[in-house]
Amino acid sequence: MNYQWYPGHMTKAKRMMEENIKLIDLLIELVDARVPLASRNPDIDTLGRGKARIVLLNKSDLADAACNKQWMEYFREKGIHVLEVNSKTGAGIRTINQLVQEACAQKLARDRKRGIVNRPVRAMVVGIPNVGKSTFINSYAGRACTRTGNKPGVTKGKQWIRLNQNLELLDTPGILWPKFEDQRVGMLLAFIGSINDEIMIMEELACDLLDCLREIAPALVEKRYQIAWEETAPEMLEAIARSRGCFLKGENLDLKKAADILTDDFRNGRLGRITLERVEQENER
Ligand code: G4P
Repeated sequence: MNYQWYPGHMTKAKRMMEENIKLIDLLIELVDARVPLASRNPDIDTLGRGKARIVLLNKSDLADAACNKQWMEYFREKGIHVLEVNSKTGAGIRTINQLVQEACAQKLARDRKRGIVNRPVRAMVVGIPNVGKSTFINSYAGRACTRTGNKPGVTKGKQWIRLNQNLELLDTPGILWPKFEDQRVGMLLAFIGSINDEIMIMEELACDLLDCLREIAPALVEKRYQIAWEETAPEMLEAIARSRGCFLKGENLDLKKAADILTDDFRNGRLGRITLERVEQENER
């Protein structure tokens, strides 16, 4: 299947991002722990030049635990401050403040030299659609925070959330664009549900997903559907349809339904915790 697409609203997102980034000191970049590279923005290094940076491996609950550790190491080796989190439950979120301090140490020292004390760090959450930005902001900010109004001058029209004495967060996340031109990236994002399913042929998406799962987590698929691997992905999808009782009128299999079941099971972690991008593959490139 052809995974090329470019949602129209990305042009607006790009403009918003360029405007907002001028206001902040720290970029909190969310990626999906199942595809930590494919879910990154290709221009993030340019966009974030001169800013303190943190990467959060979000949805870490859906990704393989050992792979999460390897990806943390991967980012650390690149000098990036990184943490694994689950924005849905709040796991890992408490330790972020410490990381913020580390990531902003240089800036805070610079401020102190210039006699600026007690000016909070201003941060923005960024990421491609569906990585969990809004869930994260809600979880991190919680109810205890105060939403500050407009500040004269620089921040007119923007809402800031005061998280603590040292940190303010822009209350709307920055929406970034993925690497549209890369077919493989498009495919991985389609697997995790970051591309509108309506523009997709679900049976083909499911077959591509099966080819991928056969490589990295064959036993989990067998276990979930109580079937053994067939020769080809389309045959495997048929086996899933039979196992789940997906029939059209008569004996014909409802492959669209089987495809929906498989993708939904994968996306919600019902197959198990699966990381699609592996550090060792990345190192081989
Ligand atoms: P966005 O702002 O970046 O576009 O993402 P958003 O917060 O809307 O989250 C997208 C989906 O990902 C939501 O699911 C959300 O619940 C889920 N999500 C966010 N963080 C995590 C996490 O750490 N772990 C898991 N397992 N899921 C996470 P949804 O199905 O669209 O909504 P809902 O049914 O959960 O309400």
